[in-house]
Amino acid sequence: MKLTIHSKGLNGVLSVPGDKSISHRSIMFGAIAHGETLIHDILRGEDVYSTIEAFRAMGVQIEDDEQDIRVLGQGFKGLKKPQKALDMGNSGTSTRLLSGILAGLPFETTLLGDDSLSKRPMDRVAIPLRLMGASITGETSRVKLPMTIQGRSRLQKIEYTLPVASAQVKSALIFAALQAEGDSIIVEKEHTRSHTEEMLAQFGGEIKVIGKTIYIPGQQELKGQEVTVPGDISSAAFWLVAALIVEHSKVTLKNVGINETRTGILEVITAMQGLLEISEVDETAKSATVTVRTSSLQGTEISGDLIPRLIDELPIIALLATQANGQTIIRDAAELKVKETDRIAVVADVLNAMGAKITPTDDGMIIEGKTKLHAPQRAINTLGDHRIGMMAAIAALLVEEGEMELERAEAIKTSYPQFFEDLNHLMKKSQ
Ligand code: S3P
Repeated sequence: MKLTIHSKGLNGVLSVPGDKSISHRSIMFGAIAHGETLIHDILRGEDVYSTIEAFRAMGVQIEDDEQDIRVLGQGFKGLKKPQKALDMGNSGTSTRLLSGILAGLPFETTLLGDDSLSKRPMDRVAIPLRLMGASITGETSRVKLPMTIQGRSRLQKIEYTLPVASAQVKSALIFAALQAEGDSIIVEKEHTRSHTEEMLAQFGGEIKVIGKTIYIPGQQELKGQEVTVPGDISSAAFWLVAALIVEHSKVTLKNVGINETRTGILEVITAMQGLLEISEVDETAKSATVTVRTSSLQGTEISGDLIPRLIDELPIIALLATQANGQTIIRDAAELKVKETDRIAVVADVLNAMGAKITPTDDGMIIEGKTKLHAPQRAINTLGDHRIGMMAAIAALLVEEGEMELERAEAIKTSYPQFFEDLNHLMKKSQ
């Protein structure tokens, strides 16, 4: 598709779609709980549909009246062997979290994915789930999809220190621990998003978190709940950055999820001297209104325990840094290499083709600013990575002349189906 270039300003108010992480988990908890779970404002992105279809294939009744979703859970034991392999599409979250559920079920299931997902590491879940007693195909240290899991109904408890900072692995182990015999202990490398722990407590489960250590008693029964999904800060990030870097912009985003394990980008914007206001904070829903306007930005350093709190935002933060004065250094982010694409290589490649000065490193990037971006000599390809597609679409707004072609733009539907409608909405308000 042809991207819009040369925006004269983005203005207006927007509600971004529901949080992807919370949407997946609401379906999963609904399916393993007893009774009805009612979900409002779920993300209707392709990744979430992968999760919904997987549970339908395991016999869970999931009703959709196009507004709300109702999941009729019958507990872990109500899940049935699917008739065929489960297609996880592009979704790492569906795959890894579901693995933890399947580990305790007494049947064999095969999980498949698209090209991108089939390249991503699954040993990070396979290794600890095998320790708990599940059988998982593949070599010990190089498990990839397709992956076959033979669950074990008498799963053993686990005491495990995560070798990577990953909420997906942590969550898979929490789902397995809920089915195990005895109490499990999971120790995180760094704090990662806490949605599974919080939703487990909301569904009546028992969990104790002390620092980076999580204690979970086994063989728990959960009860269906009503869940309202807040807007996804990872989707909001594209408009936050767009408004900061496009001249004459002011954008207000309503109902943005502000769970503190996800708000690293807000701290980075403040450190870069971006003009940002947070209002209407709702402590119960963990959401707020965020307003940003065009700003004169300074480079910064992003590293350490901040990384898991903004891991998905790093592609768009890299674009932000190209428009800041001075150097921005991103370190400790080697996990970017195993996302939907190698986001260190792909971000540098796409933005450098537009005139940015980004040096990829082993665990991040060094970005020299401020650089003027121009139309690249070639089409940009998302390579199936939604966040690369959205980053390129925002970068295009800074291009003053020429044309920009985005190939495989449909990847954006993974997490933000109405991305271009929302872009048009913010552009119209400026005319
Ligand atoms: C997610 C965790 C993160 C993130 C992904 C969603 C989750 O992955 O990148 O988009 O919902 O738990 P890792 O846990 O692998 O870092």
